[in-house]
Amino acid sequence: MCGIIGYTGSQSAAPILLDGLGKMEYRGYDSAGIAVLHEGEIEVEKAQGRLVNLLERTDNGKKPVGFTGIGHTRWATHGAPNDINSHPHVSGDGRFAIVHNGIIENYAQIKEELAAKGHVFVSETDTEVVAHLIEANYSGDFKAAVMKAVSRLEGAYALGIVCADFPGTVFAVRQAAPLIIGLGIGENFFASDVTALVSYTKNVIYLDDGEFAEVRPDGFTIYDSIGRPLEKPVSRVAWSIEAAEKGGYEHFMLKEIMEQPAAVKEAIAPRVKGGEIKLDDFELSGEDLRDINKIVITACGSAYHAGCCGRYAIEKLTRIPVEVKLASELRYEDPIIDEHTLMIIVSQSGETADTKAALEEGKRRGATTLALVNVVGSSIARLADHVLYEWAGPEIAVATTKGFTTQLALLYLFALYAAGKLKRIDDFEYARLLGEICSLPKRIQNAIDMNSAAAERLAEKYHGSTSMYFIGRNTDYAVALEGALKMKEISYVHAEAYAAGELKHGTIALIEEGTPVIAVCCNEDLLEKTASNILEVKARGAEVLALSFRENRDIIAHADDVLFIPRTETFFSEAVAIVPLQLLAYYVARDNGCDIDKPRNLAKSVTVE
Ligand code: M6R
Repeated sequence: MCGIIGYTGSQSAAPILLDGLGKMEYRGYDSAGIAVLHEGEIEVEKAQGRLVNLLERTDNGKKPVGFTGIGHTRWATHGAPNDINSHPHVSGDGRFAIVHNGIIENYAQIKEELAAKGHVFVSETDTEVVAHLIEANYSGDFKAAVMKAVSRLEGAYALGIVCADFPGTVFAVRQAAPLIIGLGIGENFFASDVTALVSYTKNVIYLDDGEFAEVRPDGFTIYDSIGRPLEKPVSRVAWSIEAAEKGGYEHFMLKEIMEQPAAVKEAIAPRVKGGEIKLDDFELSGEDLRDINKIVITACGSAYHAGCCGRYAIEKLTRIPVEVKLASELRYEDPIIDEHTLMIIVSQSGETADTKAALEEGKRRGATTLALVNVVGSSIARLADHVLYEWAGPEIAVATTKGFTTQLALLYLFALYAAGKLKRIDDFEYARLLGEICSLPKRIQNAIDMNSAAAERLAEKYHGSTSMYFIGRNTDYAVALEGALKMKEISYVHAEAYAAGELKHGTIALIEEGTPVIAVCCNEDLLEKTASNILEVKARGAEVLALSFRENRDIIAHADDVLFIPRTETFFSEAVAIVPLQLLAYYVARDNGCDIDKPRNLAKSVTVE
């Protein structure tokens, strides 16, 4: 949601904090701020709006001067995004400054108590309360004050704290929000995300819930929730800083669309050995799988759509019933999940609060849990019984692209793996379908090559539209769902997806002369059915843009415009079919002058429910 960072060492802190905030700006971008310790004082600079405003205010990091500091980039939860509500927040006596990612649920009660004791608050945030609470518990021992204050907090939080009396020391506290310690030489860091750290160090420690760290230039100590020192393993970040930079592209989103063939290959290739699928540490026998009577896929947003896509392949190939559930709904549903349920949790960031809560609910009810996650060491990855990493590399654009297609690759691999173990398909079909999965990177590349120019050209025609309807059946419907989400979240064009056969049950009333209908027609078994729906909307004046393969002459004849993909096995067609729709959304957003990588009101990782 928000991004936090801390630095202590021998270099000037402000430029490092600002650089790190730049790398994490996708986590939230409605205001930003830094606090730097200098000669027993804390100096704070904050600015509403994008980080560029803070850069201006700090003269590109020339001020505040000092070697220890904390920084924050915000996605507002409590209080409007203005200078006052921006972090860092300072205690009443000015001795403590704090940055926070998450939500303090009981802040109102604590605020009332502190106000009764004379504390005066200047912001509307939950975070300011924590600064005052630390002040109230301070009698010269920084660590003790932090621990006492934290023991009162309820909710999700990653905190970074500095104290004017302790030059060179920053405290970092984690409870249900990501926090990583970066280990340098003569300098150390913390951040919400490794992208903020990789320019400086690749050696990191992932904190767990309830842990906190005292970070100094010459070392660090990690403590458990009752203050006992802990030994934690040091992990090495596998990718370089170039992976988190634009590399000549105008936007991260376009770069990430183009990276999909390589990313999907990285997700698939290491898991195919000697003509068989090996799912890392996730080993299930036919007997284990026969004991599973239901698979529940749970996720949010695009990851939920990935689940909708994967369901078709899993059910068709394994004949195990699959339910795809929005994590934000499942957690409050009293779901029918037990020890015979396999729960697949899908999350690019591995930090989505609702998805994590759904995973916890599944575990409580005895399900076996398998997480499909991109961010290494993230909460969901560590909480699930098993994890398959997407290996897509850092995804910076708020709108997911390669995160989505690599999720599909893993779901397809799982479907075929399970079908093989259950002996639901013969060896020949297994080998054929595995060949199809392995050819996805090439087909995705073809889809990029076939559509880049066409999507750019069609965007000129469609970008002024106020509403668009995406239709498709079965696997194509799942693609339509994701295509519509891509369109609305980055171009702000109202876009809705419908199962093509459902349109005439009400929504067709909205079709009028010139309404764009994007018809996904890549499911070989249902082409004629979708063709009829195209005719229905055309008869009411719709402008139809069809997405299909060249061999489908029928649909080409009916549609006003066509985008093509290479003909692809239906089970796995979603990973290819989504690519032209990602490109179309990208170019429509560009033509509409939108901030493509950081769409309004959104944040990359949604760590509040
Ligand atoms: O990190 P996650 O995969 O758990 O994120 C889930 C959704 O928040 C995410 O897919 C969101 O819908 C994106 N903005 C879609 O582009």
